[in-house]
This record gives sequence, C-alpha cells and structure tokens, in this order.
Amino acid sequence: MIDPFGRSITYLRLSVTDRCDLRCVYCMSDDMTFLPKADLLSLEELERLADAFIRLGIRKLRLTGGEPLVRRGILDLIGRLGRYCSSGSLEELTLTTNGTRLPESAEALAGAGVKRINVSLDSLDPARFRAITRGGDLARVMAGSAAAAAAGIAIKVNMGALRDVNGDEIDRMIAWCGDHGHALTLIETMPLGDIGADRTDQYLPLDEVRRRIESRWTLEATGHRTGGPARYLRIRETGGLLGLITPLTDHFCAACNRVRVTCTGTLYPCLGQEDAVDLRAALRSGESDVPLERMIQPAIDRKPEGHDFVIDADHARPALARHMNTTGG
Ligand code: GTP
Ligand code: 5AD
Ligand code: SF4
Repeated sequence: MIDPFGRSITYLRLSVTDRCDLRCVYCMSDDMTFLPKADLLSLEELERLADAFIRLGIRKLRLTGGEPLVRRGILDLIGRLGRYCSSGSLEELTLTTNGTRLPESAEALAGAGVKRINVSLDSLDPARFRAITRGGDLARVMAGSAAAAAAGIAIKVNMGALRDVNGDEIDRMIAWCGDHGHALTLIETMPLGDIGADRTDQYLPLDEVRRRIESRWTLEATGHRTGGPARYLRIRETGGLLGLITPLTDHFCAACNRVRVTCTGTLYPCLGQEDAVDLRAALRSGESDVPLERMIQPAIDRKPEGHDFVIDADHARPALARHMNTTGG
C-alpha cells in the first residue's frame, strides 16, 4: 500500500479497547466516558481486520489501547495472530502496554511470538507514579516488566516528558533502563483531547531535554530503527538505546509508514488529523473480506502529509477532540 506521498504503509497499530485501568494525566481526563461494549469489534472481527491488512502488505502489527491487556480474551487473539510471525507474513507482532497486566500475561505473549514490547512508565517514584496515572501501583508495573524480561521479551520504556511532573527524573530513568537492559524513549506530549489541564504547562521540548542529557551522558549516533517514529542514540555510559519522539520540535511525518484502526473499526490514516474511514460496516457486510479490502487502499489514498500540532499560549485548545486512548497513539 502506497500513500499519495509515496510512503509505503507497512505498520498497522490496532487498538483493541479504549479502556484502561490507569488514567494518565496527559492522556485522559479523570471523568472519561468509554464506548459501550456493544460497539466494539469482536475478537474474530479484529482478527479478520488484521488478516486483511496483512494480505495488503502490513509487516508490523502493534496492538494498542487504551490498555490492550485489559481486553477480555486478548491473549487468545494474540496467540492466533502469532501464526503470522511463524509463517513469516509478519515481521513483528507487538504491543504497547502500561504493564499492569504483564505479571500474568508475559509467558503467553512470549509463547505467541512477541519478542519486544513497549511499556509506558513515566516515573520510578511510587507516589509520583500514582499521581501521574491517577491511582496506579508502580509495584505492579515493576513486577510486570520483570516478568516480561524473564520470559525473554525485550522492553522499550516509553516516558512522556512532562516539565514539572517528571522532567527531573530523566537521568534516573536512563540509569534504571541501562541497569535493566531496556531501551528508553522520551516522548513529547501531543495535544490530543481535553485532559482538564493546560498542556502548555506540561510540554517539555526534547531539544531542551537533549541538551540537559548531554551535560551528563555521552550520546552517540546510531542507525538503529524500529519502524516507529523514534530516532535512536546510544548512551555510552550505560550502553543503552535512547529514542527521542519529537512530534512537536522535529516531526517525522515524511517517513511515516503507519495507520491505525480503532476498536470500533475506524481507520485513521494520521494520528494528528480528524479524517477517518469506517471499516466496520464492510467488515459486517458478510463473510467475504472483499468489501473490506476494497475500502483500505482508498483510505490510504487519503493519508495527509502530516499533523500540525502546536503547543503554546496561542494554542490552548487541543488540536483534536479525541483522546489518545481512542487511537492508541
Ligand atoms: P516502535 O518504534 O516499534 O518501538 O513503536 P513506537 O514507538 O512507534 O510505538 P509506541 O506505541 O511505543 O508509541 C510511542 C509514542 O509514539 C506514542 O506517544 C505514540 O503516540 C507516538 N507515535 C507513534 N506513531 C506516531 C505517529 O505516526 N505520529 C505521531 N505524532 N506520534 C506517533
Ligand atoms: N502525547 C504523547 N504521548 C502520549 N501517550 C498517551 N497520551 C499521549 C499524549 N497526549 C503515550 C503513552 C504511551 C503511548 C501509547 O502514548 O505514554 O506510552
Ligand atoms: Fe492508559 Fe496509556 Fe492512556 Fe496511560 S497513556 S491512561 S496507560 S491508555
């Protein structure tokens, strides 16, 4: 699948639920309304969707949420999708998780062929973690990442960079990830959805963070790529990878290779735009996947050049009404 800007679309981010057991302050408001369960695609429908995209050229599939591991039956779906890895149709089957359900899921994920996961972790301090996630238990995420590592799954830690919230913890996170052999990506906050707070106060540009990191650590260039938006550096002192995801200060849209589908079957060609195509009706029109497949390339043909996120005093409103948990990032 090739988009109007010549970009080859090989990466699908499939959100399996909009629900989450945490309420991170930059992601959600504290009084979120979630979709009625009846609106969700069934696990069979999610599998058919994945199937169709893989036939059309997707090589990397990431399950997202909300929190993908809170969806009932998800490990069965992951087990079935794992067949595409063993057959070579998929290069990577993975997920982005908050880690709370990993203690009981890690073995099954590894068994399904998941080799690498991204775990969201914004603080190593229990009280601060509880505040950022509005009630989360850091110990569970620690146990979860340990379980994943013990099962042989490589971990990339996602840390949202938030000025007055965890900006002072980046050195500690670099050291901790180095000690545990995890890669780390720092992420600039994006203006998706009303979160009941002003994002201009939270926003921490990563060019500023990088200068601070360089005063303490030695950063070396690498050509390492994971197929996502992060640009990776190597930290000489720890040997660990540091990825920077900079949608605001240096956006990466020219190299975009991905689309996302929500848990109700809506395809968003770009995370940062409203345009979307509903695939659910085609999916439910009968047993054949032909109507569905016919809708996908025209949706790719609508992929815009990029987003136009801005966070400053003149842009206090979110760029988009929908929250990150709708599309899973
Ligand atoms: P890998 O590179 O495979 O490790 O994945 P990733 O970093 O792309 O995935 P992850 O789910 O960990 O996302 C990390 C951050 O990147 C999240 O904040 C996502 O919202 C963001 N992200 C991923 N894809 C895009 C994109 O196309 N545009 C923008 N603006 N942000 C994205
Ligand atoms: N801006 C940037 N990243 C976000 N995430 C959630 N909401 C936002 C936002 N508004 C991140 C989480 C998770 C990933 C899927 O998206 O930290 O790691
Ligand atoms: Fe849940 Fe992830 Fe959003 Fe946090 S960032 S509330 S873990 S979906």
